[in-house]
Amino acid sequence: MLDITAKEQIAFIYLKNRSVATPVADLEFFDRDEIACTYSNEYRSNADAVSIDPINIPININTHLLKNGHFGVLRDSAPDLWGQILLAKFLDKSIRDLTIYDLLSSENSCRIGNLDFRNSEDMEGREAQLPYFAELEQLLALAEHIEREQEPPKDLDALLPLLVQGSSIGGARPKSTILYKDRLWIAKFPSIDDEFSNARVEFATMRLASLCGIRIPDMEIIDINGKEVFFIERFDRNPLPDGTFGRTGYISGLSLLKLSDETQHYGSYVAMAEVLRHYPYPDDVNELFKRMIFNILCRNTDDHMRNFGYLIQEDETLRLSPAFDIVPSPYYAGMERVSKQAIGVGKKGKEGSLNNALSVAATFTYSREEALDVIHKMIETFSQWKEVFSSADVTEEDMDKLDFDIERRWGDKV
Ligand SMILES: Nc1ncnc2c1ncn2[C@@H]1O[C@H](COP(=O)(O)OP(=O)(O)OP(=O)(O)O)[C@@H](O)[C@H]1O
Ligand SMILES: [Mg+2]
Repeated sequence: MLDITAKEQIAFIYLKNRSVATPVADLEFFDRDEIACTYSNEYRSNADAVSIDPINIPININTHLLKNGHFGVLRDSAPDLWGQILLAKFLDKSIRDLTIYDLLSSENSCRIGNLDFRNSEDMEGREAQLPYFAELEQLLALAEHIEREQEPPKDLDALLPLLVQGSSIGGARPKSTILYKDRLWIAKFPSIDDEFSNARVEFATMRLASLCGIRIPDMEIIDINGKEVFFIERFDRNPLPDGTFGRTGYISGLSLLKLSDETQHYGSYVAMAEVLRHYPYPDDVNELFKRMIFNILCRNTDDHMRNFGYLIQEDETLRLSPAFDIVPSPYYAGMERVSKQAIGVGKKGKEGSLNNALSVAATFTYSREEALDVIHKMIETFSQWKEVFSSADVTEEDMDKLDFDIERRWGDKV
């Protein structure tokens, strides 16, 4: 029986190149971790109407009852750990008491993808403030206070709503969306837990990935009073002539595979490739293979299901988004040569070995020979890593914390 104490919100969508949002569905949040999502009749009769989530919430069904954390793109539109820490502080709640309703119950101009959530249709034209580059120094200082669990001074505390706004995107690292050079970027801040200059290492690794044939967004490293900030341009936003931004729908790897936070360990590269093969973009299937190989080569063991994203096209097909968050895990003496990836690789489960990846080449539409050729070319490029890292000013000390010795790790292995 439906719970009559349900709380309500209205989901809005930014249709392609529109700076004004359109109401798309009514959301009812029930106590038992359930959301009823009902497309509005008006929206369904709109000639441009598309599903907000073609996998989990297709528009051909009027009402979807979403349960047990399987909220698809609704969950993708909500913040992860960092944004939740801020929101809990803002709402004066414990982070454990935050509900999916809390995560989706305020308009926010920085959410990933093209959805927003408001409590009245009258708020149609409302556009919340974006954090500007000029505010970055203070936002960094505020984030550091929060990470250190110190009470920020009053002038910084006043910026909490803006940082909450900027941090509605996912991830655990302190960060904010920032308006810079008339474009929208994610600024990833240094964290007190960093073992190396994350900005430099992430920048250099992503550049190396791009040399290995992986698509990446524009990136910069910006020094703000000695703090290195990694800027990566948002691929789900495009500048419009009126100075606002168009948006593209986004669905995470987690939602692509109909998984939830609890079941995410069932995710795998193979399962993502199998879904991608239904769409008319064979290059995406090949690129996913390259990303799997690159993550193994650079020992990025944080390749979890939310570190893959897909952009929803106007015809509801899905394209692999440009890559993000490819960061090697620090290496310690005595560590196993072969890494354990966060998701399934091949016939030997999560084992991060090139042979394990090769065992499933066919799913990525490669013969063994073709896959070997891809891997060998990538290894050849990867072997130039020191030049790439030096030109990004990664220090020798930081380079020593990586396990990029291809010869030792893979020399005789494939
Ligand atoms: N360039 C981008 N454009 C649009 N969205 C992005 C971009 N980069 C990352 N994202 C989104 O923001 C989220 C957080 O980014 P990212 O994964 O880089 O942060 P993180 O804090 O390092 O994550 P993690 O908790 O996995 O370590 C991603 O899951 C993705 O949904
Ligand atoms: Mg991430």
